[in-house]
Amino acid sequence: MLENQKKDSYKIAWLPGDGIGIEVLEATKIVLDKVKLNAELIHGDIGWEFWKTEGDALPQRTVDLLKNVDAAMFGAITSKPVKTAEEELVIELKGRGLIYRSPIVRMRQMFDLYTCLRPCKSYPGNPLNYKENIDLVVFRENTEDLYSGVEFNPVPQELVDILSKISKPFSAFSSLQTDEFAVSCKINTKRGSEKIIKAAFEFARKHNRKKVTIVHKANVVRATDGLFLDVAKEVAKNYPDIIFDEANVDAITMWLLKNPYNYDVLVAPNLYGDIISDLCAQMVGGLGFGCSGNIGERLAVFEPTHGSAPKYAGMYKVNPIATILAAKMMLDWLGETEKAQLIENATAAVIKEGKTRTYDMGGNASTLEIAEEIAKKI
Ligand code: IPM
Ligand code: MG
Repeated sequence: MLENQKKDSYKIAWLPGDGIGIEVLEATKIVLDKVKLNAELIHGDIGWEFWKTEGDALPQRTVDLLKNVDAAMFGAITSKPVKTAEEELVIELKGRGLIYRSPIVRMRQMFDLYTCLRPCKSYPGNPLNYKENIDLVVFRENTEDLYSGVEFNPVPQELVDILSKISKPFSAFSSLQTDEFAVSCKINTKRGSEKIIKAAFEFARKHNRKKVTIVHKANVVRATDGLFLDVAKEVAKNYPDIIFDEANVDAITMWLLKNPYNYDVLVAPNLYGDIISDLCAQMVGGLGFGCSGNIGERLAVFEPTHGSAPKYAGMYKVNPIATILAAKMMLDWLGETEKAQLIENATAAVIKEGKTRTYDMGGNASTLEIAEEIAKKI
């Protein structure tokens, strides 16, 4: 389901998060205000600050807020690797074994936002376009795979014992001490794979797209990627009007660069989708243009693909277009397609005109100036 029923008014959770997340959401509000969406934007706490002060980057009050809104706009969060000095400090302070897990990953799993939709379009006149007329759409499975969170370091002896018993290739590791290796489980379900692959084919049909490419590594990762590919072949039978295509994840990174016009809709398990969506975003101007929707049946959370860029925080320098386009995606999802189109047209016009540009596009306009210029054109 990639679209909701239009309503008279909406409740939207407004989650700026950390670093430049705050600035790009401030810019996006300028544009949203201009299309006069009848919506209450409700602030929610999220991010590194709450990890440090409360031991939870996604506090329960924010989870409760998400249960009661139509959609959410999310800026960015700082996700640091585990075992930073700062985290150890927090663990010591709290006296309990807390492990930092990225709040956006948790939101995706908690609310079953199984579709990560990442359109990558080269808007005419963008000096950062790799090539003109690129129009790719990435469907990334958003809750499973190597993001399942089933990870061990050190590896419990029970797991070593059972793997030694049931897996031949595991003998290469079985003599290691439990702290000499780590295990991250890649878990893919038939149901999860089917949902994302169906979503991709449905989207292709609805938007008159010709081809869906399944991205995998089933020649090596036989169990999980094999399952994903098998499910895809089954699902594709219901869409004879759409070309079924498949590619290994390594090869497709080369082919995408060589000839992006060969591709249309791409669908991938979580981690490959994460990687290829950055590649596709770079072809249409980089992270300042990568917009993203985390979409479930009831809730959807929209965000720029980029992170919190701590080094630019507070400078109002970064490009807000990714977030403004994410807001456009949110309007589409809410069924507010006319307002969505207004935002996209105005954004495209500002890009094409080339007078107001942030530093990444060779200009010196601020984050908010871009938003004001887009708002002016609505
Ligand atoms: C993304 C990001 C996230 C991810 C990070 C911030 C956890 O890279 O949305 O693509 O890995 O999914
Ligand atoms: Mg990513």
